[in-house]
Amino acid sequence: MTPTPPRHVRIAGTGSALPPERVTNHELAARLAAQGIETSHEWIVERTGIHARHFAAPGVTSSDLGTEAALAALDAAGLKPEDIDLIIVATSTPDMVFPSTASIIQNKLGLAGCPAFDVQAVCSGFVYAMGVATAMLRDGAARRALVIGAEVFSRILDFSDRTTCVLFGDGAGAVVLETAEVPGILAYRLHADGNYRDILCTPGTVAGGQVLGSPMLRMDGQAVFKLAVKVLGDVADEVLEAAGKEAADIDWLIPHQANVRIMRGTARKLKLAPERLVETVHEHGNTSAASIGLALDVAVRGGQVQRGDTLLLEGVGGGFTWGAVLLDY
Ligand code: UT7
Repeated sequence: MTPTPPRHVRIAGTGSALPPERVTNHELAARLAAQGIETSHEWIVERTGIHARHFAAPGVTSSDLGTEAALAALDAAGLKPEDIDLIIVATSTPDMVFPSTASIIQNKLGLAGCPAFDVQAVCSGFVYAMGVATAMLRDGAARRALVIGAEVFSRILDFSDRTTCVLFGDGAGAVVLETAEVPGILAYRLHADGNYRDILCTPGTVAGGQVLGSPMLRMDGQAVFKLAVKVLGDVADEVLEAAGKEAADIDWLIPHQANVRIMRGTARKLKLAPERLVETVHEHGNTSAASIGLALDVAVRGGQVQRGDTLLLEGVGGGFTWGAVLLDY
């Protein structure tokens, strides 16, 4: 019997979406000052690198942004919604408790029948979703997948808490993954440690017709910062080793866009030149599960990332979760 050749998985196209309302640090600081809360453009830039973020208009949902990003990714791949047979959405701000945002996006794309489900890994959601999609494509469960990260984090921000509300924004990023003759995805590694579940959480739920607990994001910023620096370094080493590659082989590092200090620290650990780091956090803030897909699409459309480049995508966030995907674009 002839052995079946291994299926490879590659990115066929990328897309993204941002709501039109762009809020600068100065504008946000003025809004907060009106509530008696003090912050400044200087503080936000010095501690995070963020200059602006986008906020969705009332009524605009993660599925709206995710559908827009998905259509852009399909267009870039020269494909139509009917070519897709798997949809995975990473989000922590789903449209509703259920059905999944993936089911809603499937419907908005005019599709029916293919598997569609959400992945909940907070800011690591995009790399988790890419890992799961890669495994399903390699296994023959599907041929072309939409992997979408979509968030309206502004909906869960406590605008009386200056330590968190200046950090996050709304948006979506998407890729079409397809089976291919050559790689593609070289390796992925995913992790979680629930011991740290309290350092970044939105500890509310719906029960008995009421919200129980707090439906607002809260974070121990310093604890998250320290853990993020460590695990991003560790998982980069791990995924490089799994693929038989070295850090010097990486053309572009595209980490979760939360804080330039963490991102630049990760690049330094890998001994990558600063210009090998894709940075979009200054314009988008932290868009959680959307950030890596958004940054990838900006880098592709901006002409930074070229076909054949080796990319390291890395996510880290609530759970605590972290993971990485190494790929040839
Ligand atoms: O998406 C998942 C991953 N998330 C992350 O990676 C976030 C990781 N954490 C961080 O990025 C940083 O910890 C923050 C940006 C959240 C905070 O930066 P920091 O350098 O750790 O600041 P800090 O929490 O130590 O606060 C320093 C000071 C404090 O004042 P005192 O106690 O020194 O007087 C804060 O009260 O800055 C104050 N502060 C602010 N001041 C002006 C906190 N938030 C603000 C603010 N404006 N918005």
